[in-house]
Amino acid sequence: MTTTTATSRTAPVTTDTLLDFRNVAMQFPNGTVALSGIDLTVKRGEFVTVVGPSGCGKSTLLRIASGLENASEGTAALGTKRIGYVFQDATLLPWRTVQANVELLAELNKQPRKSRAAKAKEAIELVGLSGFEDNLPKQLSGGMRMRTSLARSLTLDPELFLFDEPFGALDEITRERLGDELLRIFTEQRFAGLFITHSVAEAVYLSTRVVVMSGRPGHIVDEFEVPFDYPRDPDIRFTPEFAALSGKVSHALREGHS
Ligand SMILES: Nc1ncnc2c1ncn2[C@@H]1O[C@H](COP(=O)(O)OP(=O)(O)OP(=O)(O)O)[C@@H](O)[C@H]1O
Ligand SMILES: [Mg+2]
Repeated sequence: MTTTTATSRTAPVTTDTLLDFRNVAMQFPNGTVALSGIDLTVKRGEFVTVVGPSGCGKSTLLRIASGLENASEGTAALGTKRIGYVFQDATLLPWRTVQANVELLAELNKQPRKSRAAKAKEAIELVGLSGFEDNLPKQLSGGMRMRTSLARSLTLDPELFLFDEPFGALDEITRERLGDELLRIFTEQRFAGLFITHSVAEAVYLSTRVVVMSGRPGHIVDEFEVPFDYPRDPDIRFTPEFAALSGKVSHALREGHS
């Protein structure tokens, strides 16, 4: 496990804990305090969603988790180096085909050509894009671009997968379909997920636990365990249990915002 304090990332915790934030705070050099007192643990097999108002520090939290940013206070420990990161925007290279985009991370990691091509093919199949390997991003729908982005991260066999509102720009049907695809991949691969969303229904449907953040400086106001088993039947969204839990999360979100 790797630890980030304001200055360093070292030292193991336990093999099952892939992310361990203790009292993490983030103050930017311009004085903005984005996060305060964040305690958050994500274990193997968990899919944790974070909901919170815009600007409360969710992306900052994810950037600290990925190591792109260092916390200004507290410790952020990681149990793996294999981290996948999917952004809100698919961030594909427009001149590269689907296949070449999916190979990009493996290429940057200097994996041999043959093995990265095979790995990319496998990931493309997993996200349901077989047959579109030679398409350029402009020849894809928004949902397909997001699938490509997901496939690109999957080539790294992530143990910890970070998602920053990956489906935010998509219509509701595509979003639900991709959510189901993601859950299928999650149940097959069992990485640990940390997923940011603005949608309470998406949070409850996807995750094992929902974490609710307050307005800036973001801190955790509540956490809810989600009792539904995987694979999840899309119809659970219409059950009273689902509605009751979504109601509790929405309530905590409103309370934390006021
Ligand atoms: N590099 C930076 N320097 C200064 N302030 C920053 C920096 N990055 C983010 N912030 C500020 O920190 C706060 C949290 O930003 P962040 O992007 O983490 O919010 P968010 O919860 O992801 O919002 P959204 O839901 O709109 O994506 C905001 O007020 C933002 O202006
Ligand atoms: Mg954000």
